Amino acid sequence: MNLSGKKIVLGISGGIAAYKCAELVRRLKEQQCEVKVVMTDSAKQFITPLTMQAVSGEPVSDSLLDPQAEAAMGHIEFAKWADLILIAPATCNTIAKMAVGIADDLLTTLVLATPAKVAIAPAMNQQMYAHPATQNNLATLSSYGISVWGPGSGEQACGDIGKGRMLEPLELLEHCLTALNPAPKILEGRTVTITAGPTREALDPVRYITNHSSGKMGYALAHAAHSLGATVNLISGPVNIPVPQGIHITSVSSAVDMHEAALHLATQSDVFIGCAAVADYRAADIADQKIKKQGDEMTLTLVKNPDIIASVAALKQQRPYTVGFAAETQDVKQYALGKLKNKHLNMICANDVSQEGLGFNSDNNALTLFWENEQCSLPASSKQELALTVIKAIASKLS
Ligand code: C5P
Repeated sequence: MNLSGKKIVLGISGGIAAYKCAELVRRLKEQQCEVKVVMTDSAKQFITPLTMQAVSGEPVSDSLLDPQAEAAMGHIEFAKWADLILIAPATCNTIAKMAVGIADDLLTTLVLATPAKVAIAPAMNQQMYAHPATQNNLATLSSYGISVWGPGSGEQACGDIGKGRMLEPLELLEHCLTALNPAPKILEGRTVTITAGPTREALDPVRYITNHSSGKMGYALAHAAHSLGATVNLISGPVNIPVPQGIHITSVSSAVDMHEAALHLATQSDVFIGCAAVADYRAADIADQKIKKQGDEMTLTLVKNPDIIASVAALKQQRPYTVGFAAETQDVKQYALGKLKNKHLNMICANDVSQEGLGFNSDNNALTLFWENEQCSLPASSKQELALTVIKAIASKLS
């Protein structure tokens, strides 16, 4: 993989991590790519345009309204020139502006005007990163197809410790290499159906039984399969993730609804991945009216839900390659292999949800993939990276 001949716009917004941009440009230039730097006004408070010009070998652009710069290369031309626009550091202000489509400076205008791949390397105080506004904005950018690289965790310039550090220049270089040397579309012509998120089992018009599944892993699998060229159907329980672009979504609530959608789509699919955390039981009767408080105890009668993935794996005709997930808190291998066999799956991805910071609701995960006579451990990393590895592993097994 290399970056030779590639054209990268590095957009620098105003965070202390901007001081690392000189090093980043040097690393990119070592790969023989062309780099043009765009800076926001506040970025110039942290690193000078002169420094960035010296390392990039090109004049730095900073204004939409500079007639001379526009005459040399108008902003639309500039946006079309790039193979990649990387915003590093991306402050929460710039991220927020991008999430709503504000274009009040050259950098944010280029992002809207470019057909190129856009990536951001967030860098901010850990509290600002954790704020729901920032998290929602990041989720929105992901749903637009913008890649979010990092942030890392550790000690911050302000003295706080936590998540919000910009990735190091070498890590960003790795991301650029991967982004600009995309994986071949090994799933072109294939259809992949994925279940994701929790199910919601109604008790009465206002109450339900559910679980902690965030849907992040299933959505990451959908993105990964789509990026490798597959047609992707995502059958999603209720989650707080924006609908990904280019993916066919079927929103469901209960396990029974998910079962119906899955059986309908599975026979049209080459691969079926059951990543949803399906409730094992539902209420025997859903009350028409809100259930009233009774004595000190109450008993709910539950009945078993259909096992969606087992029904798909049992299809006699047009059966897809069927992949399950197993979230376990103990004896992971034994339980995973049990499920592989009992549900007649081709493959199962097992994770130990008792490990802190991994699994449910987290951005990271670690998985072991099991086939009947083979296994492969994938160490902890982001759900996006894991999803790509899982999808590639599945693709390698398709005939
Ligand atoms: O039996 P358990 O729920 O642990 O199995 C997990 C796997 O089975 C997951 O792939 C999950 O999506 C799938 N499953 C299903 N329908 C159910 C229960 C689980 O498809 N009713």
